[in-house]
Formats: sequence, C-alpha cells, structure tokens
Amino acid sequence: MIARGEVVVPGDKSITHRALMVAALADGRCVFTSPLAAGDTRSTAGVLRALGVKVGPLSDRRVSVTGAGLRPFRASARALACGNSGTTARLLLGLLAGHPFEATLTGDRSLRRRPMARVTEPLRRMGAAITAAEGERLPMRVRGGSLRPLQWRSPVASAQVKTCLFFAGLVGGVPVSVTEPAVSRDHSERLLRLLGVRVEVDGATVTVHPAASLPAFDGEIPGDISSAAYLIAAGVLAEGGELTVRNVGMNPTRSGFLRALERMGAKVEVVDRWTSLGEPAGTLVARPAPLSPVVVEPEEIPSLVDEVPLLACLASRAEKGWTSVFRGVGELRVKESDRLALVASNLAALGVSAHTEGDTLMVEGSDRPPRGRVVTAGDHRLAMAFAVLRTVPGAEIELDDSRCVGISYPNFFRDYARVVHSA
Ligand code: S3P
Repeated sequence: MIARGEVVVPGDKSITHRALMVAALADGRCVFTSPLAAGDTRSTAGVLRALGVKVGPLSDRRVSVTGAGLRPFRASARALACGNSGTTARLLLGLLAGHPFEATLTGDRSLRRRPMARVTEPLRRMGAAITAAEGERLPMRVRGGSLRPLQWRSPVASAQVKTCLFFAGLVGGVPVSVTEPAVSRDHSERLLRLLGVRVEVDGATVTVHPAASLPAFDGEIPGDISSAAYLIAAGVLAEGGELTVRNVGMNPTRSGFLRALERMGAKVEVVDRWTSLGEPAGTLVARPAPLSPVVVEPEEIPSLVDEVPLLACLASRAEKGWTSVFRGVGELRVKESDRLALVASNLAALGVSAHTEGDTLMVEGSDRPPRGRVVTAGDHRLAMAFAVLRTVPGAEIELDDSRCVGISYPNFFRDYARVVHSA
C-alpha cells in the first residue's frame, strides 16, 4: 500500500468537551471553530442543553455556547444521557456537585459498566450527596450544594478525575488540590489558566483556586492527536508515499505516541508549529519505516493511554520474533471496552502472539500478513487501530462493527481511503 496526500484531523475530543463545559460557566457567548462533532461531544452538548445552557448546533466548523456564570444549570426532570462518553459523565458530575438540586446521570451499556468510585468518593468528601447503582456505577443521582475544599491523592492517573474535581471546586467556590501517581493530560489546567484562574503545579500535584467569574472566550480547537495517530500509523506501515497530517494537537502530556513511535524507528517530522487555546499544535509528515520492538513504562502510559491498542498493532509489525512490552496498562480494562483483553485476543485472532501478565501487555513482531476477524465490542479505538493494519501487504481484516468510529472520528474510513491506496 501507498499512503500519500494530506488529511486534516477532526478537533480534539478532550479539549472540545472542556471548552463546551467551561464556556457554560463563563460570562456570555463563546464561539469555537473546528470543534469535534462526534458521538461523545454530542453527548456533552446534549446534557448541557438539558440543563438549560444555550448551546448552538455542533458542527465540525463551529459551535457557540452562551455561558451564564459559575452556577449556570437549571434542574432537569429527565435523566442526563451521557451515551458512551466517560468524559461527559465524570466531568459533569463535578459540575453538578456544586449545584443545589438533584440530577440523574445515565449512559449506554459500556458506560454503565465503567468505574465511578474514583470520582464519587472525593466528591462526597467535598460534601455532595451521591447514590449510585451497584458497584458505584451509572445510573447515578447527585445532589450538590455547598462544598468543602479538597486535597486529594488519586490512586489512578486520570485527567477525568482531576478535571471533575477542579470543576466541582470552581462551581463550589473552593480550592481543590489533586495529586496523581503520574502526570495526566493537562488541557483543563491550560484552559483555566488562559481564563485567569490561579492554577499551581508542583510535580504531580495541581491546585486550582476559586475564581470570582470566568470571562467569555473564543478560539480554534486544535486537532486530536489520538485521531491523527491512526493516519500517522498508516503512513509508517505503508510501503511508499508520504502522508501530511494537518492540525495535530502536540501537547506533551498527550504526545507519548510520537515518542514511542520514534523509539520504534519511525520519526515523524513536524513541519509547522503554532498555539491555539493555550495548546501547542502542528503539521506532521509520516513516512514508511521498518519498526523495532518497544518497551513502554508505566509513567508514560497517561501520555498515550488511548493509543496503546494502536501501538500494540504496530508492535505486531515490528521485527519478527522480538517482543514489545507495555507495562502498567491496567487502566485499559476499564475504558469503553476491556481493551487489554480485546487487544490480546484480536491480535491472536490475526495470527500474532500476544498475551497479558497482570498489568503488562506483550506483543511479538511478525512478518505474516494479518488475517482474520476483529471483535470491537463497539469500541471506536479498537476499530480504528485494527483497521490500520489493513495497510500491511496481504492483510485481510474484517471488523464486526465499523460504525462505532462515530464516537470520536466519524470520517475515519473516508479519510483513510482517500490517502491509502494499493501500490
Ligand atoms: C480523557 C482522559 C483519559 C482518556 C479519555 C479522555 C479526558 O481518560 O482515556 O479518552 O478527556 O480527560 P482517564 O483520564 O480516565 O485516563
């Protein structure tokens, strides 16, 4: 296969969720260009509207949100449907914890099996009343109100946990400090700082101080490196060509994929750099490269957590017989699917030797064409990671579901087909 041409990746999912929610707390109308218009961010726009926030139509060109100050929500009689989106549910819980009424949150089957104790425990400590389904899962009822300051040591490195608690502190008007075992993505910190909020960072401890108000703000949402990663990987796996991927967010707490790929022998060139909404972004050029095996350590995982399935697929194309090792990837069990088990079983179904030992994933390089059927469990990232292996000569890969890519990258298959051709 040849990978040639140019792709502009869709807006960043994490930053779009945050921009929509923070805009709801601002004073007045905010307009964002190039947001992500996909399943997950539609869930965030939908719950904000259900809570009385004026959110205009969400398209990949623009979206507007009219903020109504730090406690903008009105009670909703309906349950707030968070769909497949863990970010929507966890960040919204933080916002609701500061509002003095009861709200019910729910989600799809995948979201209803995901752990919420990581946010409900500290929110209760702050003073929110929360009742949850068995196992501390959705559906869940939250009654917020007057909150206490919090200093929290999170057992997991999770930007969703950190952001949930910062949002509760902002709406509740109290300081919140979170210490993580490793530094997770810092989009919320960057955005809040841009709006004049006092944010202190001391190693893996971040403190967000209360603000009297947030100004209305506008800006362009940078593209999503987690979506760009699939195309970059296709450019590397291809036999020829050169692929330009435009508008890629390059926040260092998100770009561990590029660093791991470089260690595998594929250096992706950055040809242009700029900053948007406090976030570095750039244009990247990917070229074919033979791959070496890689070892990824636990402290790197937060910077590439959503790219582990893709890196595992790339590791299956590394030098034959050599094993790549991903340590500390236990969090993958509680993503949109059990990604750890499914990455291993799907690679095995394609004839690759892959297995897990505790929180470690091991994948052996192979030079045989990957052939077989992939079970996605409706997980967008598994669908795209395995679809990219079709770039390998002789590959025959069937996906049980391709529509799930609509959660984060609705035009993925169109973009892929436009730039990847048979030689
Ligand atoms: C996200 C954080 C990550 C990531 C998810 C989006 C965010 O989850 O997997 O896709 O926007 O904060 P955790 O923070 O729970 O690791």
